[in-house]
Amino acid sequence: MSPPATQTTPRGGAAALSKERCAELLAEARARTLQLIDGVSEEDLDRVHDPLMSPLVWDLGHIAAFEDLWLCQRAGGLEPLHEDLAIVYDASETPRVDRGDLPYLRHAGALDYMAEVRDRALGVLERVDFDDPSDRLNHRAFVWQMLMQHEHQHNDTMLQTLMLAEKGTYAPRRREAPGDGAEARPGEMVRIDAGPFLMGADLSGEFTYDNERPLHEVDVPAFDIDVLPVTNGQFAEFMADGGYARRSNWSPEGWAWREAEGVTRPFYWTADGMERSFERLAEVDPSLPVMYVSWHEAQAFARWAGRRLPTEAEWEKAASWDPDGGRKLWFPWGDSDPTPDVANLDQLAFGPAPAGAFPAGASPYGVFGMIGDAWEWTSTSFGGYPGFEAFPYPQYSEVFFGNEYRVLRGGSWATRPLVIRNTFRNWDFPGRRQIHCGFRCARDS
Ligand code: AVJ
Ligand code: FE
Repeated sequence: MSPPATQTTPRGGAAALSKERCAELLAEARARTLQLIDGVSEEDLDRVHDPLMSPLVWDLGHIAAFEDLWLCQRAGGLEPLHEDLAIVYDASETPRVDRGDLPYLRHAGALDYMAEVRDRALGVLERVDFDDPSDRLNHRAFVWQMLMQHEHQHNDTMLQTLMLAEKGTYAPRRREAPGDGAEARPGEMVRIDAGPFLMGADLSGEFTYDNERPLHEVDVPAFDIDVLPVTNGQFAEFMADGGYARRSNWSPEGWAWREAEGVTRPFYWTADGMERSFERLAEVDPSLPVMYVSWHEAQAFARWAGRRLPTEAEWEKAASWDPDGGRKLWFPWGDSDPTPDVANLDQLAFGPAPAGAFPAGASPYGVFGMIGDAWEWTSTSFGGYPGFEAFPYPQYSEVFFGNEYRVLRGGSWATRPLVIRNTFRNWDFPGRRQIHCGFRCARDS
């Protein structure tokens, strides 16, 4: 067992990010946001489609308010564009369920606000200095990258809202059919030997969020992990075997959740074996990863299968560690940008690909589909790594640390490629199932 090398950050991209590229990437993020809502009526943009979610126009105004705060005010020293809107768009001030009542900007107002803020931000971009290490926000375009990634993350949220909307509200523009499942081996596991690896990231290369840092060594006992995410076919077996009905499959909290919610199948499945995705209703496809199940359901399945959910460290080791090179990879397949050959990301298909569809995207340990398709639940509660420092604001992640949230990894079909990597951490309540999530299992080895 050799100790991990100190080499840590394969992608030096941030150092090279030019202002021109920055402006391009901001524009690209905006184009996608606007494309997503193209064809959604004004009424449906304003509507609270589900108490779990904000109205879509709230997301639009919030994206702009966040940009005004961080790029124009904090990075650029400007006064707020609309002081009165700050509270309205502060996610920590108003729970999602109350956002329908706020005096937020409606359709054209929100779009104008977005454009006005962007204009100001591009003015700031021209005069800031990316090379001054004492300017932590602007150094290596830190806050500029944060803003792009924030908008990308809200695409993911907006697509949760659009999926929840009544059938007929939204028909996404699918650009590509995901690959087939030629390599599918549901239930097969691979052993990951005991040993240390480097978890997390630092800021010597590309942008990472505070919760991904600092980079630290973790010694992980040997474990087995599913080569593929759990499929609809496997989950149907669990259901047919009384998975939801038998208390012994569930943790006490999971059972209480199941009882309270009356849950008997994944969120978008119907009683007659169909699954809804936006405007489409189709027979449940056994080859696809099971999606839209809560952490409790994932745990119940794992217990039924004689397995458990992977810890966050196990997940990241399986995805990122190259045991031969003693080196950490930015993505399971290496350090190169995602393409449709290695992962199903970027709202290409608006749904998952069959499990095992991307052999070229496997990690060095031979684990498939870790990036893209479905966010994967881990057993770990969201917390800070040893030496965590909140930056630039504690409301991004620190205020969510504790026992309430579980970590999800790997991104989904809805995730923009720029905001996913082996170290990226997502989190949600263990009872939530509207997020684009699935899971895979592990066990002690
Ligand atoms: C990382 C998805 C939990 O939506 O609350 C968006 C992302 N943070 N704006 C969230 C986020 C600020 C965050 N999650
Ligand atoms: Fe946000």
